[in-house]
Amino acid sequence: MTDEPDPMEAAEAAGEMARLAAEIADHDRRYHGEDAPVISDADYDALVRRYSELETRFPDRAPVDTPDRQVGSRPAAGFEKVVHARPMLSLRNAFDEEDVGEFVQGVRRFLNLAPEAPLAMTAEAKIDGLSIALRYEDGRLVQAATRGDGREGENVTRNIETVENVPKRLSGPAPDVLEVRGEIYMAHGEFGRLNDEREREGLPLYANPRNSAAGSVRQIDPRATAGRRLRFFAYGWGEIGERPADTHSAWLERLGEWGFEVEPNGARAEDAAGLIDAHRAIGELRSALDYDIDGVVYKVDRIDWQERLGFAGRAPRWAIAHKFPAERAETVLDAILVQVGRTGALTPVAALRPITVGGVVVSRATLHNEDEIERKDIRVGDTVVIQRAGDVIPQILEVRLDRRPEGTEPFRLPETCPVCGSEARREGGDVVRRCTGGLVCRAQAVERLKHFVSRGGFDIEGLGRKHIETFFADGLISAPADIFRLRERRAELLEREGWGEQSVDNLLAAIEERRVVTFDRFLFALGIRHIGEGNARLLARHYGGLDALREAAASASAREGEAWDDLIGIDGMGAGRAEDLVAFLTDPRSREIVDALAAEVTVEKSGDVHPSAEEEAGDLAGKTIVFTGTLAALSRREAKARAEQIGMRVVGSVSAKTDFVVAGEAAGSKKRKAEELGVTILTEDEWLGLSGR
Ligand code: IVH
Repeated sequence: MTDEPDPMEAAEAAGEMARLAAEIADHDRRYHGEDAPVISDADYDALVRRYSELETRFPDRAPVDTPDRQVGSRPAAGFEKVVHARPMLSLRNAFDEEDVGEFVQGVRRFLNLAPEAPLAMTAEAKIDGLSIALRYEDGRLVQAATRGDGREGENVTRNIETVENVPKRLSGPAPDVLEVRGEIYMAHGEFGRLNDEREREGLPLYANPRNSAAGSVRQIDPRATAGRRLRFFAYGWGEIGERPADTHSAWLERLGEWGFEVEPNGARAEDAAGLIDAHRAIGELRSALDYDIDGVVYKVDRIDWQERLGFAGRAPRWAIAHKFPAERAETVLDAILVQVGRTGALTPVAALRPITVGGVVVSRATLHNEDEIERKDIRVGDTVVIQRAGDVIPQILEVRLDRRPEGTEPFRLPETCPVCGSEARREGGDVVRRCTGGLVCRAQAVERLKHFVSRGGFDIEGLGRKHIETFFADGLISAPADIFRLRERRAELLEREGWGEQSVDNLLAAIEERRVVTFDRFLFALGIRHIGEGNARLLARHYGGLDALREAAASASAREGEAWDDLIGIDGMGAGRAEDLVAFLTDPRSREIVDALAAEVTVEKSGDVHPSAEEEAGDLAGKTIVFTGTLAALSRREAKARAEQIGMRVVGSVSAKTDFVVAGEAAGSKKRKAEELGVTILTEDEWLGLSGR
């Protein structure tokens, strides 16, 4: 990016952020969940950087969840950093019984225990969540921090305060300073509920409860965290004024007395065989538990011995995690289904012959995208090895080539959308193939309709997302023109639950109010991929009206020649956007939908509204302006719209190329930067005067 961002509109940024979030989440899943990244670290970083840039510029348009990055990765922007008083370390892993034997022997040797001397140990479930340090002062919760990189985490106090079973006040006497450590997790029931909700809203689904817990803890708005019922299990301590107990078992009991919940399936053992018995017993409970566990943690019970054993590198000598083997199974891939998402993304899904893996019947697996299918050479009819590693939706690890039946064929994603038949295209660098059908595609229709009535589009008051959904489901509307025909269905509307004369008439009046619309709004409302408010405005200004634009698109459909050059020459357009625009405008079914809409509404030339202002402010056209601080007379939205109306470029950050900064009440860093760079700073009144108000 140059230091002067494009005048990208908020709506466009919102769209791009949503796409980036999904893409980043996909790469995260590959990297952490499957250890199989498909892009270089540098490319990944570029995506994250682009996302953060947009998020910083349009924080109010960021998706509710920023892309989840795993615990242990760098702290996310937005939370204050907390340096842990005692580092939050990790555990060594034992993968088999031999490793467990070595652990016990190592401890005995280190402590120089006589062969007959007893060694008490505990075995407790290893919760697959997110580790958190809770700091209590005088018995009150004062801080909660994530693990981060172990040395420094994020201050998530406000969010953790919303977790019901985290005591805000300890019951019973406690040291003045007490740091309790444990695991935040999301129970399966809640995970299912959350993903169902996200699916309904067209948001990317969380791959597993751990990611979902991590994402929930890192919500910028604590109310969003509160809405996702998280739980906490306590097991350890960090900074503490005095030795908390003589044994780990006694410590766990103390935690209970203070009001913490401790995972209830722990056991005690005297030797490796006892630990392995406990591992088996907890493993057998695993599929019946309402939360994910990924192993059993063994700890030396005596705390004075723990202190003597100390740490080796980043892990304690007194504890080890005995992981459960990932659950695998073989089954037959019966079919590859292709789903079409809200953004038109075609997603291949494996339909498996149902099989039980780790106590759960599995009949679907993710296939991610066509590149992945090609890489693993997965074909319908193959016997595949699937693995459930904490993830609710299993992965296909590999194909049993030795069991491949004859006559199988490599899989190809269709080049047309299975829902609407429109062309499905992959763009340069994109791993996803997308339906270009837009409005004609049922899979995308509801979201498109929501976009259609949104603020930057037809802005129909009282016709919210929920109404669109229910009207669509009940067949009242399926395309934009239907909204303007709702008045013919007044009687049906009146019969609907929750609708009375008044509310129906208010809605119909609001719709009537929007029957006259400027061309740029009309264009933006169509929801053509990549055509945001800014591009719509530029196109509207350039072509003046629908007929001229359509004509140009038809001439440009050869992707060369004068009309094409003219189109891609428009500021901010570029070949990718132009492609999308031409594909949409020349698709006969989109044409039908647009014609139907055009028959219902009157499209005005965009500039018609304030022609005089444009003339007056002629010399401001093309100049760059930044709004900062709180404006008194105008909303930020109106101020921006006004600047754009007279042809100015509204940008989010100040650089040497910025022409004006309008500084409202409590303007901060942007105003300072403008001062440093010698950029003209205007008060709101000066701006109003200058812009001809
Ligand atoms: S004890 C010095 N006990 O596992 C670290 N950890 O792989 C002592 N974990 O970061 C950790 N359940 O987040 C301990 N019962 C348990 C645990 C547990 C889950 C997590 C914890 C730790 C990670 C290490």
